[in-house]
Amino acid sequence: MALQHDDYLRLVKKLHALNADYYTKNESELVDADYDSLYQQLKAFEAQHPLLVSPDSPTQQVGAGPEEHFAHHVHHPKMLSLANAFNADDLARFLNRVNKDAQDAQGGQVHLSIEPKVDGCAVSIDYKNGTLAVAATRGNGHIGEIITDNIRTIVGLPHTIPVQHNVTVRGEVYIKKSVFNHMKSDFANARNAASGALRQLDANVTKDRQLDILIYGAAIGGHESHVDTIDWLKSMGFPVVDALKVPALLPPLQNAIGAIDHSRSERDYDIDGVVIKVDHEPLQLVMGATAKAPRWAVAYKFAEEEGVTTLEDVSFQVGRTGIITPVAQLAPVTLSGVTIKRATLHNSDEIKRLDIHIGDKVRLKRAGEVIPKIIGVAEPGDDRRSILVPNQCPSCMQASVVPVDSGVAIQCINPQCPAQIKARIRHFCSKNAMDIAGLGDAIIEQLLASKCIDTVADLYALRYEDLIALDRFADKSAQNLIDAIHASKTRPLSRLLIALGIPHIGDVSADLLAARFPSLDALLTAKEEDLLILDQVGPKMARAIMALQSSVHFKQLIDALLLNGVQPTTSRVQNQPLQGQTYAITGTLSQPRSAIQAMIKANGGRVVANVGKKTNGLIYGDSPGSKYAKALALKDKGTPIALLNESEFMALLNESSQ
Ligand code: IVH
Repeated sequence: MALQHDDYLRLVKKLHALNADYYTKNESELVDADYDSLYQQLKAFEAQHPLLVSPDSPTQQVGAGPEEHFAHHVHHPKMLSLANAFNADDLARFLNRVNKDAQDAQGGQVHLSIEPKVDGCAVSIDYKNGTLAVAATRGNGHIGEIITDNIRTIVGLPHTIPVQHNVTVRGEVYIKKSVFNHMKSDFANARNAASGALRQLDANVTKDRQLDILIYGAAIGGHESHVDTIDWLKSMGFPVVDALKVPALLPPLQNAIGAIDHSRSERDYDIDGVVIKVDHEPLQLVMGATAKAPRWAVAYKFAEEEGVTTLEDVSFQVGRTGIITPVAQLAPVTLSGVTIKRATLHNSDEIKRLDIHIGDKVRLKRAGEVIPKIIGVAEPGDDRRSILVPNQCPSCMQASVVPVDSGVAIQCINPQCPAQIKARIRHFCSKNAMDIAGLGDAIIEQLLASKCIDTVADLYALRYEDLIALDRFADKSAQNLIDAIHASKTRPLSRLLIALGIPHIGDVSADLLAARFPSLDALLTAKEEDLLILDQVGPKMARAIMALQSSVHFKQLIDALLLNGVQPTTSRVQNQPLQGQTYAITGTLSQPRSAIQAMIKANGGRVVANVGKKTNGLIYGDSPGSKYAKALALKDKGTPIALLNESEFMALLNESSQ
């Protein structure tokens, strides 16, 4: 139905409100696809009635304005948005325009760069004289908010680069899917959580959220070819998007889009499409931009494909901690080119919320997630059956099932449950843990069934003769597995901590504990107060470690691992003067801040963005900021925080190294 002028004005208001929510409150009332559809209606009206276009229309602006409490940063050049393409026709129109402008400008074959469109928050980062100087959010594209301290918490983003000319890089800050999934958060998705974390006033909070970044270009200081710019940024240590150079023709472009679409589930970050850019940067300049978006680039959004299929059954899967998760068994259906037969139902609350029954036709969505989601009932089945939560474990068949999480979830508490044992072994061998290649599900099952192993410790007692006697092994595969197991004996202590699946210990805390304790034994005999003194160890993690120390079962497992030759390596360097200490920096120093930060780190300390009760010292230079006043106030109240000027700090390092 065609829009009337009144409808149009209402739509302008509605989109404004949604924009404001999206950019400033990290939430969106509508999902992206719905927003896009309203936006398209608005654009269609404006195309038909150019004289009625309201100056307030979101088509005339980029995003909403920055919030008040951060200092502002003016973007040079402006951070533009991207025009969208939804289908092959849109792509063909874009290609025609590019090829025509290229003909007019220079002639010859044009190339494009095809990149994933990372679903996070855009930031711009200036490097001056090789040092990270200012980072800002996109804001309204013209003015953003300065969030330099928060950006500095991103592990893997270089603080210094080996070039002296000014470089401005632009990229997308995101939270890894694996991190977001383990995060207790009120945010609807990882992008909102990342946006919230970026705008924290306390950089320590940002740091806890473990942000990541992928750089997708240099606004200042790049090369002639965009793909060369990306390679150059990569060579300087920037995490960059993978940019593929293809000729500006539809078939190779569609192939590249298809390949990125298929890689979605393998990436540990959400992508919602691809970005297609003219590779030749001088041609980008010739093509120019509208007020809102460049003419030389386009975003091709993947469809959030929805489908309907029958819920045939619900099975219950036991994980390594014994938590039992309902899994929907579906009549096979293809969404975005992937055949789907299963979907997680999370827990009994989710089943109630969706009010689904076996036999129903259910609506299914596959967006960025690895696992497709059931989003509701499409049509109740004729003989619909309730989903019964089991009161015995589907794997060990024992009545060992107890409610947890206030009754929302159930857990099998039998430590000998075969499903848990299998899942624990699978986790132990996984890439992020002991990284033992070649130990897939089928082999683990076979090793357990043939009684070659009972626990992960038994893996290290396996011999070539044991494996070759089994069905699945030939000479080479048996030897490869023995070698892989052997190689894992000396994995770093942090990997072993992850492999053991200790509650509340993830990647970051495993690294922290491994850096602070000289050996596994030291960690397993540490007192609760030794643990709590560490900045990032909270009461939950300390309690989990205490519980392990008193577990006979865990002690037996560790003894068996050590007896069978597992010797985790530790990265802890002895006698570091600042070991375990945290320092903040404020004011102008005689050397770049990054140099002082590097010294703190090299001496075993950690740099924090703000001072707090646990901070050991503040290193201050000329015109110190608010951190100085805060540190003085803390000191006055009896907090043992050291205030050091630069030479006192250097003296401290020198003294300790003598
Ligand atoms: S280039 C002027 N490349 O998508 C062109 N943007 O919808 C600037 N984005 O604001 C953008 N991945 O935050 C570019 N590989 C990529 C990207 C990307 C994600 C974001 C970016 C931009 C938004 C536009």
